[in-house]
Amino acid sequence: MSAQTPQPDSSRRRFLSRQLKWLLAGTIAVLATPLLRFAGFTVKPKPRHVIVNKPLLPGSVHTDHDFLLIAGETGVLAVSRRCTHLGCRVNFRLELGIIECPCHQSRFSPAGIRQAGPARKDLPTYPVRLLKDDQGKVTGYEVTL
Ligand code: FES
Repeated sequence: MSAQTPQPDSSRRRFLSRQLKWLLAGTIAVLATPLLRFAGFTVKPKPRHVIVNKPLLPGSVHTDHDFLLIAGETGVLAVSRRCTHLGCRVNFRLELGIIECPCHQSRFSPAGIRQAGPARKDLPTYPVRLLKDDQGKVTGYEVTL
């Protein structure tokens, strides 16, 4: 009769060891994320491209969820709709030719420059790329948020 010798590294022990390592790595990742954010390490979100599939006449405005696309005599400008005061969604007042916030009536020029109200900063603007057909006629715009 032979005595059984204990195996130094059984498969169950290896399995539990691996599970414990994964659990430890997950716990560190979960705990480290808010600490890194607090320390100022943030990951910039990927830029988002929004297509507006219509040409705008000078003086007209296209209202999107996140931006106003304002066509002037010299070109097209995309202005953020997020008010720099407390973040309400601003609107373009066509009859006055200004951008106005409905919450506390901050006013901005069509270029997003602050004119009046409690907001202290201008509205951010976004890059706009013209979309053209084969003949070079503008068919729309691509706004990069
Ligand atoms: S949130 Fe726009 S003026 Fe206050």
